[in-house]
Amino acid sequence: MIRINEQKCLKCHACVRDCIVHVLRPNEQGFPMVNADDERYCLHCQHCLAVCPVGAVECDSISPENCNPIGEMPSPEAMMNLICQRRSIRQYKDEEIDEKTMQNLIQALAWSPTGCNVHNMVFTVIQHKSEMEFFRTKMTQAMNFLIKTGILRIVYPNFWRYMDEIQNGVDVIFRNAPHMIVAASANNAPCKEADPWIALSYFDLLAQSFGIGTCWSGFALHAFRWIPSMRKRLALPSGYTARAVLLFGYPAVEYKRQTSPTPFLVKLL
Ligand SMILES: Cc1cc2nc3c(=O)[nH]c(=O)nc-3n(C[C@H](O)[C@H](O)[C@H](O)COP(=O)(O)O)c2cc1C
Repeated sequence: MIRINEQKCLKCHACVRDCIVHVLRPNEQGFPMVNADDERYCLHCQHCLAVCPVGAVECDSISPENCNPIGEMPSPEAMMNLICQRRSIRQYKDEEIDEKTMQNLIQALAWSPTGCNVHNMVFTVIQHKSEMEFFRTKMTQAMNFLIKTGILRIVYPNFWRYMDEIQNGVDVIFRNAPHMIVAASANNAPCKEADPWIALSYFDLLAQSFGIGTCWSGFALHAFRWIPSMRKRLALPSGYTARAVLLFGYPAVEYKRQTSPTPFLVKLL
């Protein structure tokens, strides 16, 4: 529900121009308004609220007074360092991250862009090492089964190289990370595949700024698909599927320089 404060409104139509679904239109007096019939098309993106120069727009009971002001953006240099210095962390301190930092990371998830602004995602955050132990134990059991039956060699030929480590109890999947976040999206969400990856990419970069290391885990994702007890533990609502997994915690490794990755093919037209 969008409300316009006509006492404040300048009739500049900044909100009308920025409404992607055109539900905001000027009425006969020139005030922006939403037709009752159009209400259902509103994406609830709050662009109208954010763009209004005088704070005359309220959206879904959120008033401009309750919004955070615009803050300073990181410099391009700071962003380049963030991107170039992020490494996949596979050695973690045996330490949980503090609660306040965890809350900050979780809160920021809400700002992740999603297709059609559909917020049908569920994040399972493993907050404690003891809970990670559940997944680690299940995974070890599964890996040992795959080794014993010879399936590992057939399905994941490259993984065969880790066989000794796995049998000696080395956690080659979760890398002893103290935490993990699993992003699931509704099976009927318009961008169900992209949304979870984008959300965890944002989470990833924000985590670096708190000194937290991360590692994507394609293998954990496989495990959630194939091992029902692990999937069940995520406690996802029905109709949701886990689609992206990120391990995180304080790094026990320090990199002394940036890498020089092979550039992708970029076509400039
Ligand atoms: C989709 C995806 C899945 C990945 N899965 C795993 C994984 O299961 N285990 C792992 O150790 N690293 C995994 N990685 C991390 C990559 O191996 C890593 O990003 C790559 O080697 C480059 O290293 P860097 O991230 O330190 O720059 C994954 C990365 C992506 C993007």
